[in-house]
Amino acid sequence: MSADVAAALLAWYDRHARALPWRAPPGVVADPYAVWLSEIMLQQTTVAAVKPFYEKFLAAWPTVEALAAAPTDDVMKAWAGLGYYSRARNLHAAAQAVAREHGGRFPDTEEGLRALPGVGPYTAAAIAAIAFGRCAVVVDGNVERVVARLFRIETPLPAAKPALRAAAATITPHARPGDFAQAMMDLGATVCTPRRPACALCPLTRDCAARRAGVEDALPARAAKAARRKRAGVVFYARRADGAVLLRTRPPKGLLGGMAELPGSAWSADFDLAKALDAAPARANWRRLEGAVTHVFTHFELTLTVFAAAFPMRAPAPAGMRWVGAEALDGEALPSLMRKAVALARAAQG
Ligand code: ADE
Repeated sequence: MSADVAAALLAWYDRHARALPWRAPPGVVADPYAVWLSEIMLQQTTVAAVKPFYEKFLAAWPTVEALAAAPTDDVMKAWAGLGYYSRARNLHAAAQAVAREHGGRFPDTEEGLRALPGVGPYTAAAIAAIAFGRCAVVVDGNVERVVARLFRIETPLPAAKPALRAAAATITPHARPGDFAQAMMDLGATVCTPRRPACALCPLTRDCAARRAGVEDALPARAAKAARRKRAGVVFYARRADGAVLLRTRPPKGLLGGMAELPGSAWSADFDLAKALDAAPARANWRRLEGAVTHVFTHFELTLTVFAAAFPMRAPAPAGMRWVGAEALDGEALPSLMRKAVALARAAQG
């Protein structure tokens, strides 16, 4: 069925492809820089969330050389809100590698692409197919779902990954591999959805083994997941009389590395709220705010309690911290989690 599947899917894509800002019109070769930038942003992030960030980056840095020449902090600030911040650091490092070691041209093979920081097997395959027309097998979560159903692969994920990949390889065409990859993604996102797939609209419905057996809703099967671990901590919203807020910068490596934050405690599974004030950046009349901020990271779920206090104009910033004016806060590399804490404090302040 392989040739038929690819042909049917490409014909569907010609009519129903989503118009996305990084996509070239049919027949036009996509710009590798645009493809790479979009694929890094789309890792673990939805198309809707990525669009405004993609436009902002392309406007600020229209070429890989321009991005390479930007100060890292500007890149981190522009990335603030998109999450998974190691991607931003790797993005900048990869831009510098392309600009300095490859004369501004992206490597055009999967292997060459994989040598760039932040480019794993999926991303390398996607760029090779979309930007360079390579017959690479591109498998993301959407593609896994489509393939599990099409071939009725009932082994649960993640054990099914090699079988899903092998099955995807059998339908990947030599012609238009980039369009084929994006067609699979679009089909997974808009038709072959996790719940209640729209099989009546699917160009592959007659080829689909799961559909034939009536088990499409149950695939792909997944091994039961362990519950996400929980951690807790506190942050301190120190507000000066002119509205400035006390911030510090996280260490360059590790979770949210190099991003700005409100000062606070370490985050731990056994955090003791009774000792919260031990982590305060300065002595003050700290008030615990009602509610809390929660944020889901890959490996744990975090709950932050927020304390607030007013500081006089003459209060010095403690070592390693800085007062940031209210109007400058938006331009800081503040991750979403910290923006939520600031919003909670501002709401409490009335
Ligand atoms: N998700 C990741 N890459 C994508 C692309 N090129 N088109 C649509 N969705 C995607």
